[in-house]
Amino acid sequence: MKKIGIITSGGDCAGLNAAIRAIVIAADKIGVETYGFIGGQWAVLDDSKIVKLFPDSLPADMLKSAGTILKVGPVGDPYVFKCENGDTIDMLEAFDKKVKELGIDAIIMTGGDGSFSLLKKFFNYSGIPFVAIPKTIDLDVPGTDMTIGFDTALNELMHVMDNLQTTVASHNRFIVVEAMGRTCGWLTMQGGIVGGADAIIVPEIPFSIPNLVSHIKENVIKKYNRHHGLIIVAEGAVEENPKKSPVKDIAKALSDAGLEVRTVAPGHLQRGGIVSASDRRLATQFAVYAVDLLRQGKSGKLVVLQCNEIKDISEEDFASLGKYHSDLNVTNQNVYTAGMDIDDNIIKTAKGLGIYIGEID
Ligand code: F6P
Repeated sequence: MKKIGIITSGGDCAGLNAAIRAIVIAADKIGVETYGFIGGQWAVLDDSKIVKLFPDSLPADMLKSAGTILKVGPVGDPYVFKCENGDTIDMLEAFDKKVKELGIDAIIMTGGDGSFSLLKKFFNYSGIPFVAIPKTIDLDVPGTDMTIGFDTALNELMHVMDNLQTTVASHNRFIVVEAMGRTCGWLTMQGGIVGGADAIIVPEIPFSIPNLVSHIKENVIKKYNRHHGLIIVAEGAVEENPKKSPVKDIAKALSDAGLEVRTVAPGHLQRGGIVSASDRRLATQFAVYAVDLLRQGKSGKLVVLQCNEIKDISEEDFASLGKYHSDLNVTNQNVYTAGMDIDDNIIKTAKGLGIYIGEID
């Protein structure tokens, strides 16, 4: 192996730069050059978007800065590039041609469930060895206990909750906070615990708005004479008939019960911030492991964390561990994804604190 290409695909999150940094350094140490594909696979359409990376010319804040210096790859179908004049370019062919022309003989890609679900087709065509590193604030990638970006997002959400706690207490209000995470409840559940929520609504657990309101009235106001608090709701939690986000209806029901209510959606703030120590460590460990896998001649692997150990699984394992369903953000695309484990100890913790987490025994 002489040259590794690096792609950061899907949505950005904290820790991607730390991963890029570690790939570049670890590869350099074994005499391998690294090339960044700015904007993902589609960088092959423009030579100026493929840049050689050197350990000593990386920005000084690579460990600390969220986002990615390589920008992100395309959202949607990465195999077809639609030109302004309506023509289309077959990206499988363009990618394969360019990568081989450049002499790039291995690829490391960071991505989430969406990117990995598409990887096989892309790399089977090309035959170029690849290793994938899981990143996402949603923590919904099958086969890994942790993804790059989750911990920093959780910290950012915690800061939002901290800031809201003091204002709700001053005004005797309730605020309904909408957290990101797509169809997975990990960020919301953990954000609710570390941010002191009175109710946590996640996609994986059915809920009742009247029961949530009763909980606030009985177990918060009546029991503790506390007239303020936070309710956190995952963006992927849905009310049935018609299917829609429950945030507005929860706020309305609380307001109808005589409480003063506001709603807050921290949105993309959850994707930025100073990268946490855990994310820097995980990104660095994943990256060094990925370079080593390629050095050993291995391909088609996803680097994962399982029971505190860095390991790798195959594309097949990734797919078999996931649930295949339609992507919320991309039309006509299915992904393998993993939801929150409702047998996890965090559920017992939430129940032990008397938090309303939905209709679950
Ligand atoms: O998958 C990461 C994520 O931040 C989700 O939590 C959220 O639903 C989505 O991306 C937002 O996507 P976009 O950046 O395209 O608005």
